[in-house]
Amino acid sequence: MKTSIAREDLARIAQAIAPEAKTLEGKTILISGGSGFLGNYFIGAFKELNKTLLKNPCRVISIDNFITGSRTALDEKDPQIKHIEADITKPLNIDEPVDYIIHAAGLASPFYYKKYPLETIETTIAGAKNLLDLARKKNAKSFLLFSSSEIYGDPDPRFVPIPETYKGHVSSIGPRACYDESKRLAETICMVHHQLYGIPVKIVRPFNIYGPGMKPDDYRVFPTFITRGLLGNSLPVHGSGVQTRAFCYIADAITGFLKVLLSDKNGEIYNVGNDSEELGMEALANLMVEEIGNGAVVQLIEYPDSYPADEPQRRCPDITKIRAQLGYKPTVNLREGIKRSIAWYKEAFPERFDVKK
Ligand SMILES: NC(=O)c1ccc[n+]([C@@H]2O[C@H](COP(=O)([O-])OP(=O)(O)OC[C@H]3O[C@@H](n4cnc5c(N)ncnc54)[C@H](O)[C@@H]3O)[C@@H](O)[C@H]2O)c1
Repeated sequence: MKTSIAREDLARIAQAIAPEAKTLEGKTILISGGSGFLGNYFIGAFKELNKTLLKNPCRVISIDNFITGSRTALDEKDPQIKHIEADITKPLNIDEPVDYIIHAAGLASPFYYKKYPLETIETTIAGAKNLLDLARKKNAKSFLLFSSSEIYGDPDPRFVPIPETYKGHVSSIGPRACYDESKRLAETICMVHHQLYGIPVKIVRPFNIYGPGMKPDDYRVFPTFITRGLLGNSLPVHGSGVQTRAFCYIADAITGFLKVLLSDKNGEIYNVGNDSEELGMEALANLMVEEIGNGAVVQLIEYPDSYPADEPQRRCPDITKIRAQLGYKPTVNLREGIKRSIAWYKEAFPERFDVKK
């Protein structure tokens, strides 16, 4: 979070969430997957709130086993942030009070959930169960589960943009089932805990969050296109390239997630994303090529074996619910987000992308 781009994002998040965030005075937040893409931004946002808003700082406990996250977090010097190297599928022993819990650990990139299918299931399911038990024990004020837009599967086009009420079109045994079905069951487990024990559970279904902080070897589409493009290599588009997604910039998404975490809307589910620009993957690659501006080209390729087949053909969120109930409003359009992401990769990895200072 040391780049100027990320610092601007964190300032933007802290400003947008300030009215709700006062409630974090002196509180402790436990996050699983704190060294991942979203987790890292969450921690950056909490630090920014400590710097700019909270008189009594909040504390953060991050739990990560670094299966895909970066160990550099362990060098953290901030006294309010504690990083624990542990597997969330194992029972937790936390001695201190915990007020807020975020279950963000997971294998979010299709490349990695194909590589680690059982870990994907266990982290989502056993991780949720362990954290719900902790929420009960600590009498937590709020519990946020990271589900996914993948729970909708390959949607019937009549239901795109997809509302939270759409029940999904998902295979229980297909190549993506370890991810999709474990997220679906985690939602069920959370809702049952809410109904039986009154745990203040909220669920978010993120739709293709992107931006600064996604590791170059994450294998999701943004880092793949940008890092290959910056090196002058072709941007590989799977299949026909007409499959669509609607991307949401990280700073908007984190603001949305925090709005949900800090709300009193227990037992509710929210899509979090940006509904304004659903576009095909070839069109996305072309936009990137324009912004990278070094003559890199777009190439349509067969689906590689490392990528789980059967991908959804369309995806775009209906965000009416979170807009109306929590005042969420995405502010960064796709072109601006692409520019910011490219600038971040150059700033964060100057040697790798041969950036002249
Ligand atoms: N980024 C998105 O667009 C998106 C979309 C939908 C859902 N999600 C969900 O949001 C959450 C965060 O996504 P992300 O993009 O930050 O993912 P990420 O892969 O960048 O980070 C996940 C983190 O979880 C850690 N982790 C995995 N298994 C663990 C375990 N057993 N114990 C402890 N730590 C473990 C990893 O080491 C990594 O640091 C995930 O649950 C993901 O499924 C993300």
